[in-house]
Amino acid sequence: MTEETHIVPQHIAIIMDGNGRWAKKRLRPRFMGHRAGVKSVENIVKHCIKRNVTVLSLFAFSSENWRRPSKEVSLLMELFALSLKQQVKQLHKNNIRLRIIGDVSKFSASLQKQISQAEMLTSTNTGLTINIAANYGGRWDITQSVQKLAEKVKTGELLPEDITEETISAGLTTAEIPEPDLFIRTGGEQRVSNFLLWQMAYTEFFFTDTLWPDFNGTELDKAISSFCQRERRFGKTSEQLRENDNA
Ligand code: IPE
Ligand code: IPE
Ligand code: MG
Repeated sequence: MTEETHIVPQHIAIIMDGNGRWAKKRLRPRFMGHRAGVKSVENIVKHCIKRNVTVLSLFAFSSENWRRPSKEVSLLMELFALSLKQQVKQLHKNNIRLRIIGDVSKFSASLQKQISQAEMLTSTNTGLTINIAANYGGRWDITQSVQKLAEKVKTGELLPEDITEETISAGLTTAEIPEPDLFIRTGGEQRVSNFLLWQMAYTEFFFTDTLWPDFNGTELDKAISSFCQRERRFGKTSEQLRENDNA
């Protein structure tokens, strides 16, 4: 390897932002933007498979999105349920493993059932893994992991000094999944909005003004090629990386 990575990112995490503004530009209700956003998801999934990406994490609904007008929240819930219903068979046929990460206990009983059925059906698939982050917050994820460890300390199963980065990671919703290599946020904002906070400690960031419903394969390729030109040093120097290559 030279100073450039040249390796396709294995795990891509995306904040799919800009649906509302996409609709507003067309003088249509925000919900139309969310519907168009689902089409974009289908397209990007296909493109990720083409590019040999192994994990795709998509932020669909944040723990803060409940603060939106209740009408928009309920339409988003309906759209989530409908998309699951329409897509799951196709995803399964394509050997895709679907996982929902987030606090699903806040969803309706029927949506929770749909989620567990979809996860169960696709659990042994070996192709692309898709993590849909729904009612997800990075702080919530860390908190729930630490709570599980605290329970073990309480029962004497674990010593406080056994709480390590590894044990915290192992309790996250993304345990056993490699950390994101590339993070993309569409829609022009340059912030993390409580997405995979712990997991993105060394992720490469890519921001684009393109609104999510307009994001396509060409745009994804731009993000991937930007990633490929970066040098991931993980604290080391460039020289050290080159020495290892020549070793
Ligand atoms: C992202 O698009 C989708 C969700 C948060 C559900 P937005 O709805 O945030 O779109 P903008 O940012 O208002 O344009
Ligand atoms: C973040 O988008 C969450 C999702 C894309 C689901 P938002 O549009 O809600 O983010 P903020 O609150 O503006 O940062
Ligand atoms: Mg937004």
